[in-house]
Amino acid sequence: MSQQPTPQSVLAGLEVHKGLEAKQQPHWTDPEAVVEATAELAKQPPLVFAGEVDQLRDRLAAAAHGKAFLLQGGDCAETFAGATADQIRNRVKTVLQMAVVLTYGASMPVIKLGRMAGQFAKPRSNDTETRGDVTLPAYRGDIVNGYDFTPESRSADPRRMVKGYHTAASTLNLIRAFTQGGFADLRQVHEWNKGFVSNPANQRYESLAAEIDRALQFMTAIGADFSEMKRTEFFVSHEALLLDYERPMTRIDSRTGLPYNTSAHFVWIGERTRDLDGAHVDLLSRVRNPIGVKLGPTVDGDTALRLIDKLDPEREPGRLTFITRMGADKIRDALPPLLERVRDSGATPLWVTDPMHGNGITTPNGYKTRRFEDVMNELKGFFEAHREVGTYPGGIHVELTGDDVTECLGGSENIDEATLATRYESLCDPRLNHMQSLELAFQVAEELTSASR
Ligand code: PEP
Ligand code: CO
Repeated sequence: MSQQPTPQSVLAGLEVHKGLEAKQQPHWTDPEAVVEATAELAKQPPLVFAGEVDQLRDRLAAAAHGKAFLLQGGDCAETFAGATADQIRNRVKTVLQMAVVLTYGASMPVIKLGRMAGQFAKPRSNDTETRGDVTLPAYRGDIVNGYDFTPESRSADPRRMVKGYHTAASTLNLIRAFTQGGFADLRQVHEWNKGFVSNPANQRYESLAAEIDRALQFMTAIGADFSEMKRTEFFVSHEALLLDYERPMTRIDSRTGLPYNTSAHFVWIGERTRDLDGAHVDLLSRVRNPIGVKLGPTVDGDTALRLIDKLDPEREPGRLTFITRMGADKIRDALPPLLERVRDSGATPLWVTDPMHGNGITTPNGYKTRRFEDVMNELKGFFEAHREVGTYPGGIHVELTGDDVTECLGGSENIDEATLATRYESLCDPRLNHMQSLELAFQVAEELTSASR
């Protein structure tokens, strides 16, 4: 009889990548505390179950073949303080509202995937931050250090990884409660959307909302089983950046004997850590989860094909998602040749657009922001590129919050540079607020409906 490997032997198996270059890791100052924290993490129960992870892979396979659409969204950087019932509820609510609109627009199932319950670690362009004549380590996300600009707060503290685990667990628990316990009832979500379009600023979306209304009335009339529509599938994801966290959360599934990252259903590799010979690509090449890779405007076809060979050698449907983040001014030139090259190789990864990270600007008054119109422009470029090449535009990846923050410019509320200061809360990149997120969903739905007519 074969013996089940213990978590320890699993970890040993995953030490392989340790000799490889690991970019964007914190400089821990207390090695013993790192050993303690990772040992503590290795003892904690998994946050997700391998069966759910497999189910998400199947759903993503459908999206890669044009039979489903992915909506991935949430904070740029979740914070421990932000893991409150209200904020989690508002984000889940926003994603559910967007999903209903997109489902109607795409006439296909929408896979809901939060950038939630573990999106705590951030890559930074500089290792340090200087204010006046003081230089301190950069903020790398709550799972590494604090945002306050003091030496104590900015020092990397491994115990934060354990807190990150518990915060992810309580966030995921509430997500599961909301999405299984009746909060996600389709009729209720639609009522929220009716509230959104009743605002005079959003009048242009009224006719689409009215169409959805008629569809729901039709379903009621024919006696559709609404008890089934009280719950919904909702998956979670984050950037697998902090290796000292991801490694102990990677375990062998007792059912299949295969390694899974049990900290999220889906994990992705960022634009800054996707080196073919780097530790991040190596670690994720070994897990069974569906995984993503961000691709910026400078990526070439060869690199994309090598990433496919390394991360998805079996060309398994749903395994690999390419999340392109080119910038509104580059996508129409950069994306089509990439799509062609990958298509011609016979590979069918899921193609998703992140219209946020290529469109960052800094205002003269010092705010990191993005223009809603640039985000929409990149989205349109994404659909155009796929139409041109004959590949499937499989989903969107956005940074959003359910709160009424003022971090991105524009939208129907016309947030301008002066307004940014009123409620700018992000510790990292600017997020679409509740209204802007819904507007984006309505506009993408319009795009999808016109494509299918
Ligand atoms: C992010 O998604 O927050 C991020 C850092 O993206 P990218 O790796 O594409 O820059
Ligand atoms: Co970001």
